[in-house]
Amino acid sequence: MRVLPLAQRGVTTSRLVLGCMTFGGGWSRDPITKADIQAAEQAIDTALSVGISMFDHANIYGRGKAEETFGTILKGRPALREQIVIQSKCGIRFGEGSIPNRFDFSRAHILEAVDGSLQRLAVDYLDILLLHRPDPLMEPDEVAEAFGQLKATGKVRYFGVSNMNVAQMRFLQRALPDQLAVNQLELSLAHLHWLDQGIHVNQKAGVTVNFAEGLLEYCQTEAIQLQAWGPLAQGRFSGRSVETEPDNIRQTAALVKQMATEKETTPEAIVLGWLMKHPAMIQPVVGSINPQRIAACHAAEQQAQTMTREEWYALYVSARGNPMP
Ligand SMILES: NC(=O)c1ccc[n+]([C@@H]2O[C@H](COP(=O)([O-])OP(=O)(O)OC[C@H]3O[C@@H](n4cnc5c(N)ncnc54)[C@H](OP(=O)(O)O)[C@@H]3O)[C@@H](O)[C@H]2O)c1
Repeated sequence: MRVLPLAQRGVTTSRLVLGCMTFGGGWSRDPITKADIQAAEQAIDTALSVGISMFDHANIYGRGKAEETFGTILKGRPALREQIVIQSKCGIRFGEGSIPNRFDFSRAHILEAVDGSLQRLAVDYLDILLLHRPDPLMEPDEVAEAFGQLKATGKVRYFGVSNMNVAQMRFLQRALPDQLAVNQLELSLAHLHWLDQGIHVNQKAGVTVNFAEGLLEYCQTEAIQLQAWGPLAQGRFSGRSVETEPDNIRQTAALVKQMATEKETTPEAIVLGWLMKHPAMIQPVVGSINPQRIAACHAAEQQAQTMTREEWYALYVSARGNPMP
């Protein structure tokens, strides 16, 4: 039986992750309300009740409000900390005045960002820290210094990346004493280049495919945990209105609904189960704050185990909108 790459490194956690990007009221500049905290706590409790014990953050989500909301809940329930895995990200900075939004993997920024996350989350350590988006000015030795300091002071246990290609991971890895543990990427039935890249080798049909060559294989070979952001495609295949979407999306939403009915499960379980059937042992990072929706994801692992090759391809081909080459 295959095991999660994270488990191979000693991180015991659930297959599904709850993404906390909308906690605390999302991107609005309004302050966090009691209702925001209650909604987040309900989402956390629903996640725990269906076995989800890993939570994904970033220092920028809601401009800090997502972590702060989570921290407020943790302060009231300190015993929860040791029952869950907390992952956060750093490396994106918002612009101010004439300074644009930018990426920043400098030692000073990484250290400062982690201190900010720990304070907002009201915890002593992050289980996992990801670099959010590749910084063209990245200097691996500087990142290694920051990671080394964070590990030595017990502030972060494992490190990973997000939205990086193989060359960038290798370039960074060569300076690091520990293996990168995670790469988080957008992977879903609506975002298929991660699969199309592999089936269009040496074919004109693949010239517009935009996914880093060899990334899936590299992560599998090195036991790096692949995580999928946007795994529900924001609900496009599981109940959101698709009236104005292209034919392939509408037809796939109908196919998902039909499969869910036949298998007596939820559309969410089919959509996530399809991702989880891939041998890379992908961890979907579900971004919902809606308790019913979070609970609807619960059966995904079972669907992944029972989904046939033919059903998997039926979904893939339908979502591609084109037959296999
Ligand atoms: N590394 C990165 O660069 C990156 C980028 C983006 C996100 N992320 C992470 O990945 C997580 C998930 O990302 P995501 O939110 O884009 O992915 P998602 O899980 O595909 O979508 C969740 C969003 O879609 C909505 N939704 C789902 N089903 C719906 C339905 N049937 N009808 C209406 N709305 C529906 C949810 O609303 P409800 O809350 O109402 O259910 C929520 O806003 C985030 O929370 C974050 O942790 C990482």
